[in-house]
Amino acid sequence: NETPSSLIMIFGATGDLAKRKLFPSLYHLYRKGKLTDHFAVVGVARRPLSHEEFKERVKDSVLTSIGESTDIDDFISHFYYQANDVSDSDSYQELRKLAADLDEKYSIGGNRIFYLAMAPEFFGTIAEHLKSDGLTDTEGFKRLVIEKPFGHDLPSAQELNDRIRTAFSESEIYRIDHYLGKEMVQNIEVIRFSNALFEPLWNNRYISNIQVTSSETLGVEERGGYYEKSGALRDMVQNHMLQMVALLAMEPPIRLTTEEIRSEKVKALRALRPIEGEEIKDYFVRGQYGSGQVDGKELPGYREEHNVDEQSNTETYVAGKLMIDNFRWAGVPFYIRTGKRMTAKSTKIVVQFKDIPMNLYYRKDEPLAPNLLVIHIQPEEGITLHLNAKKSGQNTEAKTVKLNFSNKSVDGMNTPEAYEKLLFDCIRGDATNFTHWDEVALSWSFVDKISEIWESTKETEFPNYESGTMGPREADEMLAKDGFFWWPVA
Ligand code: BG6
Repeated sequence: NETPSSLIMIFGATGDLAKRKLFPSLYHLYRKGKLTDHFAVVGVARRPLSHEEFKERVKDSVLTSIGESTDIDDFISHFYYQANDVSDSDSYQELRKLAADLDEKYSIGGNRIFYLAMAPEFFGTIAEHLKSDGLTDTEGFKRLVIEKPFGHDLPSAQELNDRIRTAFSESEIYRIDHYLGKEMVQNIEVIRFSNALFEPLWNNRYISNIQVTSSETLGVEERGGYYEKSGALRDMVQNHMLQMVALLAMEPPIRLTTEEIRSEKVKALRALRPIEGEEIKDYFVRGQYGSGQVDGKELPGYREEHNVDEQSNTETYVAGKLMIDNFRWAGVPFYIRTGKRMTAKSTKIVVQFKDIPMNLYYRKDEPLAPNLLVIHIQPEEGITLHLNAKKSGQNTEAKTVKLNFSNKSVDGMNTPEAYEKLLFDCIRGDATNFTHWDEVALSWSFVDKISEIWESTKETEFPNYESGTMGPREADEMLAKDGFFWWPVA
């Protein structure tokens, strides 16, 4: 079961993602013996750098992330650099030559991974050059790893897909959604499909609603330029939020293969009720942060941020009510919300079960709490089950007790970072935790209908939530209309 040898070419190797995530993740894999000696990494970027200069950068990035290391010099000896102008054949020819040399030096057998960790406008051009300049013409496997955003809407995603498909087949394309690399997101399936306690209840007879919250405390930071064109709907909902919903909603796959799992997710996404035109306001709420306090610090509103229009109509918060029109879920709302500058950095799923038919322990003015299953995705990882049990003493009153499982305390160590797992999956050729084109297309077609309306109608109430709060009041009202409320997650 040895990890295959591989030559990994990282485009955008001087960028932030490579520095913060990719190099440290590769190092962790190396440390754990999950990379054979038959691997090499070529950093590719515009600026000229020597191999040595690049190795030093990689070393810095790893040491910044982990502190000390005794084998860092061994590790960086596998790194090389090639300056590249994305639209110039000559530089791909040089890269091809370097790749061939390294292939031989490390006995890699022609296995190649092309990781595009850079601005998406170049994805198509790079993929086409990789083919026309012969880099994909190799004896081993060839795989393309591609970061988000995968397009801006369905037509642009389709166009991008057509271009990369000229050089790679669907099964060779690994579209990253880093939420799919998170330990507890991967755990959704296991919790659902390996417990007699949950799967029989996982439907509209026993579940009243599901809430998925992904809140951040950070604002848009230095990414105003990107974010102005994206907004929370494209940045978080089209990918991460809909992926979590698909995993919560899908039918059990007949077996745990990439194809079967993806095909069930696709079916769940196909069952998403399209929300269009006038009804959008009943199903979706948009928000934009104003100034306010986060962690005791007064921070400016979104419209005051760097590279943001003073009159910006971009949403930094989205709450939505999704309906999945199939047999299992008819009538059960999936509420999602995500935003920047909220109260806490937290991703959680709350599954609220229906009330029991008759409550013998009903206390005046205080209804019995429903059972909840809370899946903590980050920062803490774990599960909490809210049950009712007897209050101690001479009474027949019930109170809520919480059964807690914390992932970290059991393993006794930090769980691997999402990127580490995803990189390893890619080297092994397991595409399960990457998004298939059909998922991307369905998500865009759902989201496009909302962004079309939002872009054509200016929100007059922006900013409509203060920094450091859980978002606009309308998001609470949306649930209240259905007789629910957001369970506190912070
Ligand atoms: C990214 C978005 O995909 O996810 C960012 O572009 C967001 O805007 C980030 O901050 C959140 O990821 P995480 O893992 O910190 O929840």
